[in-house]
Amino acid sequence: MSEQTPPPHAHLWPDTATVDASDHLRLAGLDAAALAREFGTPLYVYDEATIRARCRAFREAFAARWPASAVAYAGKAYLSPALCQILLEEGMELDAVSIGEIGVATAAGYPSAKIHLHGNFKPDAELAAALDLGIGRIVVDSLDELERVEALARERGKPAPIWLRLCPDVPTETHTYTQTGQADSKFGLDVASGAARAATLHAHASPWLDLLGLHAHAGSHLLDVGPVARVVEFLGAFAANIRETAGVRIRELSPGGGVGVAYLPDEQAPSIADYAEVVTRTLAETVRRHRLEPPRVVVEPGRAIVARAGVALYTTGPRKAVPGGTTFLAVDGGMGDNPRPALYGAGYWAALAERMTAPPDETARVVGRYCESGDVLVQAAALPRATPGDILAIPVSGAYHLPMASNYNLIARPAVVFVHTGQARLIRRRETLDDLLRLEVS
Ligand code: LLP
Repeated sequence: MSEQTPPPHAHLWPDTATVDASDHLRLAGLDAAALAREFGTPLYVYDEATIRARCRAFREAFAARWPASAVAYAGKAYLSPALCQILLEEGMELDAVSIGEIGVATAAGYPSAKIHLHGNFKPDAELAAALDLGIGRIVVDSLDELERVEALARERGKPAPIWLRLCPDVPTETHTYTQTGQADSKFGLDVASGAARAATLHAHASPWLDLLGLHAHAGSHLLDVGPVARVVEFLGAFAANIRETAGVRIRELSPGGGVGVAYLPDEQAPSIADYAEVVTRTLAETVRRHRLEPPRVVVEPGRAIVARAGVALYTTGPRKAVPGGTTFLAVDGGMGDNPRPALYGAGYWAALAERMTAPPDETARVVGRYCESGDVLVQAAALPRATPGDILAIPVSGAYHLPMASNYNLIARPAVVFVHTGQARLIRRRETLDDLLRLEVS
């Protein structure tokens, strides 16, 4: 085995990433550029060991501090049958937001009782299908929805297991598009108007609603876990209030997900253990203060499980240096497979997969191939000078890229490969022209 060293900025790459004696990036022992040439680009490579390690870190961190706990992976971050099998083996529950996510998970063998369904507008057909499948929990988001769930449960003659999603009115310092816990959010029942209390009393009184828990989520990509503590305090205080004033007993609390990750070399993200410590310490204090029965706690991490496991590989194309201006380096993907920079101004870092430690020659703006000037993947990447046909690797690409990918410009969506202990497994093939035409009926 040739000499292997950690890649520069190792905290951005999968756990198994190394740089070999030829200065090539390796993932789970495999040459990343060779994978790109074998399977074509853009290619998304996921390292199974990193996914499993993050699942275990969450499960163990919570089990050690709060045995009555579960970790439900937020499927919106990325979902596929192959991932579901890994999640199942790692004892994860699943947070789904559509019958599509539920269908993919159950097709992969996920028991529906281990899935809970979120969403501010779940169409009746999806609610009905979820109930018919025996979904674990429906997370009711509004008074209107509460009535619809009750009616559907009555029609089926079986009470619906529910949580109520509350709006905690907790500010966060994340992008406004990924804030969800502020007072004017579209998500959740708000307390000030009385909607949260009304929903609780209605659910408690209804024979068709089995009110098991309360949920609130502050926002996504939190680099400071302070707001999560506020959410836990909020849920505890609300549970105590309705127990004292209406005798309603809440058995489960969920402070949602939201643990951030580092995307850039100088970023620091909270550790999973720090997050678990904040959630469980705050919960213990809240339970003591309000003399609550200790509830089961369910957290919903998405990004923190898969973001770092994924690496996007592109082939470089034309390079254009504007005199006295910007140097553009085009790659064969872009906003179609990663809309995050265009949507949120998200920052990324990049490397050439076959010159991992070579000193940079220039600062290039890495742009995609889509017909939009905003199609920029990396604003300023310090890179060795690329020639067409090089392989560019962007780390931290595992969350909220592929699930938000589009066929803009009718460009096929990428293939996905899972790597593990020197083996590569194509788990999703690249789309073809036939795929692009498949749904057109005339
Ligand atoms: N639970 C609920 C109720 C959520 O709304 C979300 C994310 C999560 C859990 C998982 O959050 P995570 O642990 O992944 O931060 N597309 C955006 C992120 C949107 C997140 C939506 N909800 C992005 O690319 O940053």
